[in-house]
Amino acid sequence: MAEIEGLHAENAEQIEALRIKYLSKKGAISALMNDFRNVAPEQKREIGQKLNALKTAATEKLEALKNQYQQEDHIDDSIDLTRPAYPDEVGTRHPLSLVKQEIIDIFARLGFSIAEGPEVEDDWHVYGALNFADDHPARDMQDTFFIQQNPIVVLRSHTSSVQVRTMGQQKPPIRVVCPGRVYRNEAISARAHCFFHQVEGLYIDKNVSFADLKQVLLQFAREMFGPDTQIRLRPSYFPFTEPSAEMDVSCTLCKGKGCSMCKGSGWLEILGCGMVDPNVLEASGIDSKEYTGYAFGMGVERIANLKYRVKDLRLFSENDQRFLDEFEAAH
Ligand code: PHE
Repeated sequence: MAEIEGLHAENAEQIEALRIKYLSKKGAISALMNDFRNVAPEQKREIGQKLNALKTAATEKLEALKNQYQQEDHIDDSIDLTRPAYPDEVGTRHPLSLVKQEIIDIFARLGFSIAEGPEVEDDWHVYGALNFADDHPARDMQDTFFIQQNPIVVLRSHTSSVQVRTMGQQKPPIRVVCPGRVYRNEAISARAHCFFHQVEGLYIDKNVSFADLKQVLLQFAREMFGPDTQIRLRPSYFPFTEPSAEMDVSCTLCKGKGCSMCKGSGWLEILGCGMVDPNVLEASGIDSKEYTGYAFGMGVERIANLKYRVKDLRLFSENDQRFLDEFEAAH
């Protein structure tokens, strides 16, 4: 009896083995039952009761083992059903996408539409139509990634190529911004990368003047960096604009007083601009006596750095989640 009570089993096979051992036709209890007929008549009553009790106990024990096993079997304890569900991980927008969109939105309100073009370009769209001299250093292997030499195919080094495409496809008035990724053959460091992003703008119409350019850029600077922002234009040179200028905004950190971010000058350089060179208009079949235009171009990383004070340019392309999560609240 004690032996029956102490039985235990861990799986269905072990339970079946116990059934065969004790309760099958050839099992131990059946054997005892068979021996019953040899029991003396005066003991039959007592032994019979004990045998019946033993059989019932064995049957019940096996039943209990089966139940216990089935219950355990249905609860897979590798799954904790009381555990709270994982919260939905909603992706965040990349800081460069946020800034690019902000730039585009400002110019869209000023009447600019968006134009996009290919990153792999021919020489004409990246340099030739933009008045670059044949021996201009930007056409050098040091600055440009060449895909093919003859005919020349390159990774575009600025999105001015999209402006050339737009001028080839549309008649003035033209008012577009060209966002996109550009490539330059630079050693990767905290301050330079072999690819980055630009938004360039182009406006061509009758009587477009430098004053129009200045007004639009002032408006942009104030919307982007705050209503107190001042701008400053310094003479510069680009093959495709004449006159050309570089634009600074008053330092977003010290408001022009001079700090480490603006290296004490109170100003931060943010973009290049100028009046479209008549040669560029003519190269695209636009009559430079009838039309004038302005163009500007800025780096999205540069603007993002000033807005978010990102110290290392490489963070933008490393996809470190700790960095990307910082911008969750920004949209
Ligand atoms: N294409 C110039 C660059 O990549 C920027 C620029 C655009 C300057 C338009 C003037 C006018 O640096």
